[in-house]
Parts: sequence; structure tokens; C-alpha cells
Amino acid sequence: MKFVRFIMKNAALASVPKHIEHFSKFSPSPLSMKQFLDFGSINACEKTSFVFLRQELPVRLSNIMKEINLLPDKLLTTPSVQMVQGWYIQSLMEILEFLDRNPDDYKVLGQFVDALVTIRNRHNDVVPTMAQGIIEYKEAFPQDLVTNQNIQYFLDRFYMSRISIRMLINQHTLIFDGSANPVHPNTIGSIDPHCQVGDVVQDAFHSAKMLCDQYYLRSPDLILQEMSIKKNHPVSIVYVPSHLYHMLFELFKNAMRATIETHENSNNLPPIQVMVSLGDEDMSVKVMDKGGGVPFRRIENLFSYMYSTAPAPQIGEHTRPPLAGFGYGLPISRLYAKYFQGDLQLYSMEGHGTDAVIYLKALSTDSIERLPVYNKTALKNYKVSQEADDWCVPSKEPLDLSNFKGAK
Ligand SMILES: Nc1ncnc2c1ncn2[C@@H]1O[C@H](COP(=O)(O)OP(=O)(O)OP(=O)(O)O)[C@@H](O)[C@H]1O
Ligand SMILES: [Mg+2]
Repeated sequence: MKFVRFIMKNAALASVPKHIEHFSKFSPSPLSMKQFLDFGSINACEKTSFVFLRQELPVRLSNIMKEINLLPDKLLTTPSVQMVQGWYIQSLMEILEFLDRNPDDYKVLGQFVDALVTIRNRHNDVVPTMAQGIIEYKEAFPQDLVTNQNIQYFLDRFYMSRISIRMLINQHTLIFDGSANPVHPNTIGSIDPHCQVGDVVQDAFHSAKMLCDQYYLRSPDLILQEMSIKKNHPVSIVYVPSHLYHMLFELFKNAMRATIETHENSNNLPPIQVMVSLGDEDMSVKVMDKGGGVPFRRIENLFSYMYSTAPAPQIGEHTRPPLAGFGYGLPISRLYAKYFQGDLQLYSMEGHGTDAVIYLKALSTDSIERLPVYNKTALKNYKVSQEADDWCVPSKEPLDLSNFKGAK
């Protein structure tokens, strides 16, 4: 019996490349915030959501699995990346089992919710596991700039794909698991149609402050200001509060660390100022610190995975969560902002401080998922080889003009 199961499992695994090939030919279908809300409205139809997801999830999974396959061999074969790849294959196979099931059978719908929960849990540790794979690879093969650029390109797309897949899974499981959300009865899955931005700012600040107090035994204060075209109304948008919270929490941790480390010898810490502003098109949140800033040359580096100026944190059962150290805070936060067509940018003045601005869409009709798609253009990005720069590289050595020939 065991042997038969083993053969069946292997036969199923052998068909994986064929499925990936098939589903990666479809483009993912980005959903608008309105479509997400419609799935959760009073006449929400679990059957429609099921039929959509059993096609769309394999499409999103297969598109990104094609890109995993394009990673340099030495990275792809690290135990950590192999593990992540195994999770993706397993989850794809589990969803494909529902392709020929009857959407009118409520038992099938229930099993689908259970399968999605299992898949979500299986993928909980994808970010640290993938990060571990990159560390192993970089230690074994200190690489050139081009490989670094490829990895940055891949991780942005891979993590964005993951955010979108989790969003789909969360919406379906939260809306159709049969229980209302007792804490936030008005949310639709993870979306709050009236997300009060100021409240999320306060929550995120409070959590970062607690961490900061534990670590440094002190923390700066918050000054919050709100501006809205709808005067006297607190700023609110249709959004996923947990995404906004994630971005703000990361920005506050960074701002607090910079503030404290720059004002080490001072009794007073300059407060962190936050400005929330709602216009016709954008809802923006600016987090301003007086933490000494960052040189302009380094700003883009800050968004690269693994870049951190903090000491590497110890990962263990009894260590408290660190305020900084993995170098994933900014790049992942920018992905959350971009996911619904927003952005996150840093404006810094070295010697003074840093302003970080989150731009989100004010209107839910503009908030549409931004998704990677595997195609020829993406493929080209993995194939770039090292070529000479078409801008001169300034030499640090003084030029000897007495013997000048202008050679290349
Ligand atoms: N407000 C700021 N002022 C000064 N430097 C900053 C600020 N925000 C970020 N940085 C710099 O950018 C680096 C990267 O920030 P990022 O949040 O991505 O990673 P981290 O804070 O080092 O680690 P973690 O993944 O735990 O957030 C920081 O190590 C720090 O050097
Ligand atoms: Mg950080």
C-alpha cells in the first residue's frame, strides 16, 4: 500500500513541470479593491470565489515558479531555496486537485477553505527561508554586481507575488469560514472600507515605541498632524490596515533607531513628526525624523535586501524581537505600498534627518493589484551579462596630463 502511494506521488510530481508550463502561459488577473469588496458583499458567492481561485492561484504560483527556475544554479540548489521550491510545488498540486471538483457541493467548498489554510501555514516562513538561501549563496560565492541586481529583481517580484497570493487566500478564508470578525465587524476579510489612517499611525508608533524602550530604555515622542480635503474629517481610505501598519511600524523603528543613535549624548530626543494628507488622488503619510540622515549616494542601497547598518540579530527562542538588523524593513514595506499602486520613498538630508513618505491611492477605484508576470521581458532581465558601463568611472588617482593619450 505504502509502495503504491509512493508510485502515485512520484507520478504526480513528474507532471509538475507540465502544469507549471500550462498555467504560466496565463497572465495573472489583477483585482481592484472594489472587486475584493464585491467578493465579500452581502450577495458574496463562495462558489464564484472558489472557481476564480482554483484557476488564479495556480496561475500566480506558476508564473513565479518559472522565475525561481531562472535563478543561478548555485542559488537554486541551496537547501533553503530547495525547501521553498518544494513548498510551492506541494501547494500547486493541492490546489490542482480541486480543478475537477463540483463547485455546487458545499463539502468541496469546505475542503477548499481547509486546503487554503494548510497552504498559508506551509508558506509562513518563506521570507526568512529564502533570505537564508541568499546568505548561504553569498557566503559561498561572493558575487559580482550583475548577480546582485538579478537577485534584487527576483526578490522584489517573488515577495510581491507572495503578498498577492496571501491576500487572495486571506480574503477567501476570512470571508467564507463562516464566522464574523468579532474585533472588526465592519471589515471585509482583511480590508477596512473606512480605514482611519491616524489610528493605524498611533498603533504602529505605540508598538515600535515599546520595542525601542526595551532596547534603548528610552524613545522619542510622536507629533501627528492630519490634513484632508474633506475638512474636519479624520483621514480614511479603503485599505488593508495590516499592510499600512506593517509599513509604518518599519518606518518608526528606523526613525527611532536613527534618532536615538544620533542623540546619544543628549537628554532630549527630537520627536518624530507624522503628517497624514488626503487629496483627490493620493493619500500620503510622511514620517519625519531628526536622526542625522543618510548620504544621498546610499539611498537606493537602503532598499536592497540584506543591506543593514545594524549588528546582525541573534535568532533564538529567548531573544526579544530586534529593532533592526535584517535589512528587509524598507524593501518589503515598499512592496506593500506598490502592491495597490502606491510607493514608498525616502528623502534624506545628511547631517539633519530623513523624511519617509508612503503614497497610497485615495480612491478605491485606483487601488488595483500590481503583479509580476512571467514573459520575454522578465526572462531578459535574468539573462543580462556583465557589460561595460556607458558612463565613465571617475578615477580616484590624479590624472597625469603630461603623458596623456586618452586611451580606453
Ligand atoms: N530614518 C532613517 N535614518 C537613518 N538611516 C536609516 C533610516 N531608515 C533606514 N536607515 C538605514 O537603512 C538601513 C536599512 O533599513 P531597513 O529598515 O531596510 O533594515 P534594518 O532597519 O537595518 O533592519 P530590519 O530588517 O530589521 O528593518 C538601516 O540599517 C539604516 O542604516
Ligand atoms: Mg528597519
